[in-house]
Amino acid sequence: MTVNARVPARVFGEVAEDFDRVRLAYPVALVDDVLNYSRLADSGRRALEVGAGTGKATRAFAARGVPVVAVEPDEAMAAVLARHIAHLRDVHIVQSAFEEYQPEEGFGLLYCADAWHWTQPEVRWRLAAQALTAGGVLALFWNNDRIDDPTLRQAMLDVLAEIAPTIVINDAPLEPARLLTEWPGNELAERPEFEDLVGRIYPSRRTVTGADYVTHMSTRSQCRMLAEPIRERLFAALTEDFDDVVPLAIDTVLYLARRKPEPR
Ligand SMILES: C[S@@+](CC[C@H](N)C(=O)[O-])C[C@H]1O[C@@H](n2cnc3c(N)ncnc32)[C@H](O)[C@@H]1O
Repeated sequence: MTVNARVPARVFGEVAEDFDRVRLAYPVALVDDVLNYSRLADSGRRALEVGAGTGKATRAFAARGVPVVAVEPDEAMAAVLARHIAHLRDVHIVQSAFEEYQPEEGFGLLYCADAWHWTQPEVRWRLAAQALTAGGVLALFWNNDRIDDPTLRQAMLDVLAEIAPTIVINDAPLEPARLLTEWPGNELAERPEFEDLVGRIYPSRRTVTGADYVTHMSTRSQCRMLAEPIRERLFAALTEDFDDVVPLAIDTVLYLARRKPEPR
């Protein structure tokens, strides 16, 4: 008998359209920095994207003329992505987990937006190095958002503590000095295949509606994994608290590293 158990890495497709509508995009300056650091256009190579989801980063890179092979395992996420990129000739979707994907070419850039933590720790660095040509660039990034209003933030934490105490909110402001000692900087710094490690933070602010904030919460893996009655109670309580707008402070974190040449 086959049991299709839900796993935290693969629940996003349950809410693919919501995810696409409310998840935050990535800063234009970050895309510029990745392309300047990688000099991808000079290499004549394509970029590999890991965990493309509905294509928030795919579209940002494709808009800059980057040819992309976008790997995404979830059918529903890949379907939204396919709709978005239907008019683009140079974006190719592969429905697969990164660990099962067999590259048929060397890539000049491997980028991954908010998905590297879902890949398998035992193999991901080796597979990334194998997918890149010597001098090719690894770029890992994601958005860290926190509610920029102490009363509203505390109201959310109180609701979580009462209804879903297993949910962990890691929204402390990031200190640039710790970028290279925290995951994934600490692991990447130890990898013999990579060099020239850089960590950067792009701070920004945004205000969203309370309803969109609650929908955003509902796209988080930790919330999706709650038992349904608890999830419903949680969202009913959050909807009561977030009846207006929610100011967000966003730190977008980027790590860049270069693939070393193979030892001779
Ligand atoms: C939080 S979403 C991020 C999606 C998109 N990159 C973005 O920034 O909006 C994480 C994505 O990683 C995908 N994913 C999970 N495990 C994966 C794996 N082993 N290999 C590749 N992608 C994976 C999920 O299906 C999901 O689409």
